[in-house]
Amino acid sequence: MTPSTSPTGAERHLHQEELIVTKTDLQGRLTYANDVFLHFSALTEDEAIGQPHNLIRHPEMPGGVFALLWERVQAGKEIFAYVKNLGHDGVAYWVFAHVTPTFDGTGAITGYHSMRRAPRRSALPAVERVYAQMRALEAGKPARPAAQESLEWLVGQLAEQDMDYDAWVWSLEAAA
Ligand SMILES: Cc1cc2nc3c(=O)[nH]c(=O)nc-3n(C[C@H](O)[C@H](O)[C@H](O)COP(=O)(O)O)c2cc1C
Repeated sequence: MTPSTSPTGAERHLHQEELIVTKTDLQGRLTYANDVFLHFSALTEDEAIGQPHNLIRHPEMPGGVFALLWERVQAGKEIFAYVKNLGHDGVAYWVFAHVTPTFDGTGAITGYHSMRRAPRRSALPAVERVYAQMRALEAGKPARPAAQESLEWLVGQLAEQDMDYDAWVWSLEAAA
């Protein structure tokens, strides 16, 4: 399994009552996936478990968002993010994700957990505009420095509006 499916341009929509849940090990390899994840990702459990989570990465997602995700969870913190994923049948789906570390009794991180619900649809055009600008900044550059650069750009843009990342996400997601 490789994250090589091409987007068909089609999109699946999560219903309000549906939740997509996965768990990973410390390297981001899937250790658990619920049925809703398998359905939206067009994968069987055997195809999903043990695979890296970038299995469903959509090419329109900027690396900078995932750089922030990993920075946060490896530091023991949570993150909320808009994520566009790509099922293995080429059908995309947008989620509003909450990603958290899992701790053992000594406080050590043992893995990661993500739960996603349907995003507020009216937030997506603004998210897509920002993500497109981040991808443009990343284009043609080595992945890691490119992701850091686009993340710094986002943080800088938001700082000009007296906002941090969390305030931005919640300004979009909180019902108007
Ligand atoms: C708990 C957890 C859930 C994740 N969920 C997703 C996801 O739904 N889609 C995705 O593309 N990456 C997700 N990631 C991030 C991937 O591990 C990876 O960083 C991202 O797909 C970028 O991959 P790449 O840098 O190899 O291209 C998740 C990571 C963790 C720890």
